[in-house]
Amino acid sequence: MNKELADKVKTRRTFAIISHPDAGKTTITEQLLLLGGVIRSAGTVKARKTGNYATSDWMEIEKKRGISVTSSVMQFEYEGKRINILDTPGHQDFSEDTYRTLMAVDAAVMVIDSARGIEPQTKKLFKVVRQRGIPVFTFMNKLDRDGREPLDLVAELEDVLGIEGVAMNWPIGMGQTMRGLYDIANQRIELYHPEEGEDKFIPLVDGKVPEDNPMAQDPQYQDTLGEIELLEGAGAEFDKEAVLAGEQTPVFFGSALTNFGVETFLKSFVDLAPAPSDHTVNGDEDLAPDDDEFSGFVFKIQANMNPQHRDRIAFVRVCSGEFSRGLDVTLARTGKPVRLNNAVEFESSSRVQVSEAVAGDIVGLYDTGNFQIGDSIYAGKRKLEFPALPEFTPELFMRVSPKNVMKQKSFHKGMNQLVQEGAVQLYRNYQTDDYILGAVGQLQFEVFQYRMKNEYNSEVEMTSIGHRVARWIKPEDLDPKMSSSRNLLVKDRFGNPLFLFENAFAERWFHDKYPDVTLTEKL
Ligand code: G4P
Repeated sequence: MNKELADKVKTRRTFAIISHPDAGKTTITEQLLLLGGVIRSAGTVKARKTGNYATSDWMEIEKKRGISVTSSVMQFEYEGKRINILDTPGHQDFSEDTYRTLMAVDAAVMVIDSARGIEPQTKKLFKVVRQRGIPVFTFMNKLDRDGREPLDLVAELEDVLGIEGVAMNWPIGMGQTMRGLYDIANQRIELYHPEEGEDKFIPLVDGKVPEDNPMAQDPQYQDTLGEIELLEGAGAEFDKEAVLAGEQTPVFFGSALTNFGVETFLKSFVDLAPAPSDHTVNGDEDLAPDDDEFSGFVFKIQANMNPQHRDRIAFVRVCSGEFSRGLDVTLARTGKPVRLNNAVEFESSSRVQVSEAVAGDIVGLYDTGNFQIGDSIYAGKRKLEFPALPEFTPELFMRVSPKNVMKQKSFHKGMNQLVQEGAVQLYRNYQTDDYILGAVGQLQFEVFQYRMKNEYNSEVEMTSIGHRVARWIKPEDLDPKMSSSRNLLVKDRFGNPLFLFENAFAERWFHDKYPDVTLTEKL
């Protein structure tokens, strides 16, 4: 272990924001970047947002690549800490991408619209975060609008998500009547609109505003005091251990749009969120982040981010050691050596060559086709392999072929690259070798088709074969006769056989016919 490295690692805070579309993820990200000094005006990130656009808008934006690279990873320094925000696509058709990104963070921030409470996408993403056992920080957003009762919102965390919410601050009024926040953690009032010359903060004495302050008579404030008393009696007590274990979530109220409560949140977050910790490797060993040898895994691959350069970048979460240019590593999957000559890190609007990256940081490696999602890389002699990343089982399938048979080469190239990127899953018909694509959402197919044309000059013909249930079968159990009109026998990109059933009924029929054969949902 090396002390200098250990000290650097301690300053890293790597997280992702999870939320339902429209809760305010983009707006709060933008405020955080403003606070970090990496952008100068609001609206910068907003323009990059890809989440809620109609397909055509999304594609237009994607076309102006370069934007998405910077929104994939955002980095800034704040109060001596290095913050890495990993962006997650907002659209649910791309949730697979989001799930993988969540494997590369040490904490999550959950943004909730205070008028809507917990929404479906938040619930889904929370489940993943919970499985990882990482800390979750909650930001109840849009306080400048009338929303639900704060007590309700906090109770809902427990009722719907099963996580204890502990209030770090509490609204004084809401919407039109919002006056500010009662900041429990810092024992002060944070005013929403301080009068000219008035300080933004009023320090509390014994939990109360001094009597000579006009706020002391404010009816909203009086109500808040009542609620705070209730919380003290019945609410959860802040417990740092429970927060770090992901069992309790600190709750912050605020309004991202009016930049209210965001800085208070960020300060607490930076203070409470964990620095990178051990990773599990080789099945059951622990790897310390300050281990001398560099290691990491690829959680995302993105091709053609810059149309001028036609490049491809593999995003690596550094799990131990320090990255330096020209580092020689081994790719665990193949055992082959790779020299990491060309790597970038991400600043607000540009990519810059990596100056320094330690455990917790993300580096982007220019890739010429070496890497696949989930790949582990390591320096040194000891082989290090990180656990496999979760894969979604697709539910929608399409048969795909090139429109122009003379353009097989570009078709195969595009297909290979986009599949390696994880944009869609590829299967081949067991008998005919025809290409079949699988995806979680329709939009993935549309983006695939669009990118094939624009980036690889390959127009593709796609025919839907509809919804299917994908089930893997052990190769030794497979008898090609099992393939019938009610299922489609295919192989995945590793050559493993699986059946695509038309529906659950067809699957049951199969089970009845072959009771001794076990089919699995995942490989
Ligand atoms: P998302 O990334 O989670 O999908 O949400 P985003 O930040 O884009 O916010 C969704 C909408 O909610 C935007 O309005 C945004 O301005 C608004 N919003 C975000 N935070 C707050 C807040 O604290 N208070 C209020 N009142 N609104 C907030 P929009 O009308 O969809 O977009 P725009 O026209 O304002 O850009």
